Amino acid sequence: MKRVVIDCDVGVDDAMALILAYGSQELEIKAITGVNGNVPLNQVFENIQKILSLIRPFYPPLIAKGADKPLTGETLYAHSVHGIDGLGGADIPINETERFWETSPLKASELLPTMARQFPKELMLIATGPLTNLALGIQRDFEGMKNFKEIIIMGGAIRTRGNTTPYAEFNIYSDPLAARIVLESGIPITLVPLDVTHQVFLTSDLMEQKIKPLQNLLSNFIIQATGYESLSRKFRNRETIFLHDPLAVGVAIDPTLVRTENLSLEVELQRGEYYGRIKERAADAKINVCLEVDRKRFLELFISSLRKRT
Ligand code: BDR
Ligand code: CA
Repeated sequence: MKRVVIDCDVGVDDAMALILAYGSQELEIKAITGVNGNVPLNQVFENIQKILSLIRPFYPPLIAKGADKPLTGETLYAHSVHGIDGLGGADIPINETERFWETSPLKASELLPTMARQFPKELMLIATGPLTNLALGIQRDFEGMKNFKEIIIMGGAIRTRGNTTPYAEFNIYSDPLAARIVLESGIPITLVPLDVTHQVFLTSDLMEQKIKPLQNLLSNFIIQATGYESLSRKFRNRETIFLHDPLAVGVAIDPTLVRTENLSLEVELQRGEYYGRIKERAADAKINVCLEVDRKRFLELFISSLRKRT
């Protein structure tokens, strides 16, 4: 079992990432921390509890709130993609009577290095939102954060177009200074950028043939959260739904799903056209960047994680 902590901004695809993490036999989830991102922090924290109520994990993870705003700049929410509540309006009651999580008294920026110290060079950190909590953790206790074995980050658009500006991806654009602090920390990092996450998506064929027939709580959640309708064969007004964050979890479960290259990267902090872009530079290569993915094998892994529950 690989022990992991997940820092997220739930988010429809963050929710699917949590479902994949719990559906795999390979990961043991020690903690889940929330960061301001797709939706405001309090909504993220509520959504973590909703998804845990849906998954009903056998071992309750610690959960903690993190930053409610980026280190610099204004907050940018993604309600147009994830809905007002961040879960596409999916109806999930929070279960407060059973123990599906334990709330940490610590803020994420303290919990992250504390947990890394507890399991030196053993814990993996998977980040699927803006990198504010990680940067604050580094500023607060760099020595502690260095105990993470690896950080897997969904973020960036390296040799492809951005999704928030023509050059920048949402998680990096939302807090470029935090991204720079994390990418330059020297902690081992695997980056899962749009170059690969744009290769993995749900289609109407997958929904009709593989997901709808499962008829369980998880498949029903995916149908609701993505707004999939058989009649139009669309996800609200979209043809496909990208599995950005689930792919970061997929890479933690099975790194052979992707081909990586070691690159030297720099985050653009200058306001203007290129703000939040990650660019390659000619210097010591330090970041392991995913550039190709075995789409079919990843989708099989994702769908198999939905089968395990009723
Ligand atoms: C990233 O942005 C968010 O909207 C998604 O949850 C994902 O983490 C993709 O750019
Ligand atoms: Ca996310």
